[in-house]
Amino acid sequence: MPLYDGDFEQTHGVPDNVKRLQQVFAEHAALLIASPEHNGGYTASLKNAIDWISRPRENGDPGVRLFASKVAAVMSASPGPMGGLRSMLGMRGVLEKLGAVVIPQGFSLGFEKDGTLADAKADAEVRTVGAGLVDVARRLARS
Ligand SMILES: Cc1cc2nc3c(=O)[nH]c(=O)nc-3n(C[C@H](O)[C@H](O)[C@H](O)COP(=O)(O)O)c2cc1C
Repeated sequence: MPLYDGDFEQTHGVPDNVKRLQQVFAEHAALLIASPEHNGGYTASLKNAIDWISRPRENGDPGVRLFASKVAAVMSASPGPMGGLRSMLGMRGVLEKLGAVVIPQGFSLGFEKDGTLADAKADAEVRTVGAGLVDVARRLARS
């Protein structure tokens, strides 16, 4: 995906990769975002993807509708001592602004530079977030 730019969009339209990602969003009820932390926030490439997805779809529907009423969960991973916790906080605000329902559970994964987990309980905690997301998405789908 190119860096979002209004002039680019006006000249070239929404790129095919974005249209494909918008379609994936349209086909799914829940959204699990896992991001590293870059200088205290989530990554610029993640925000760029969200900005593109929010643009109008081929059928004219607003892309922001792809986030509205979607159940979402956020996780982070970083070799830093806080496991990228700050990247999660910012992402929550963005998703809520777009109308997503962000579940309260979250998880920050701290790992060692060799890739091993810093916390042996991490696997179980990650699964708790996944299970919480599926649970809320299923209950909303039934209502
Ligand atoms: C530009 C840059 C800024 C970063 N800033 C932070 C930071 O503020 N806090 C942190 O915990 N890790 C920081 N990191 C480490 C990244 O979170 C780490 O590279 C990432 O978890 C590795 O994920 P990857 O293997 O998917 O690239 C930074 C890394 C880069 C490249």
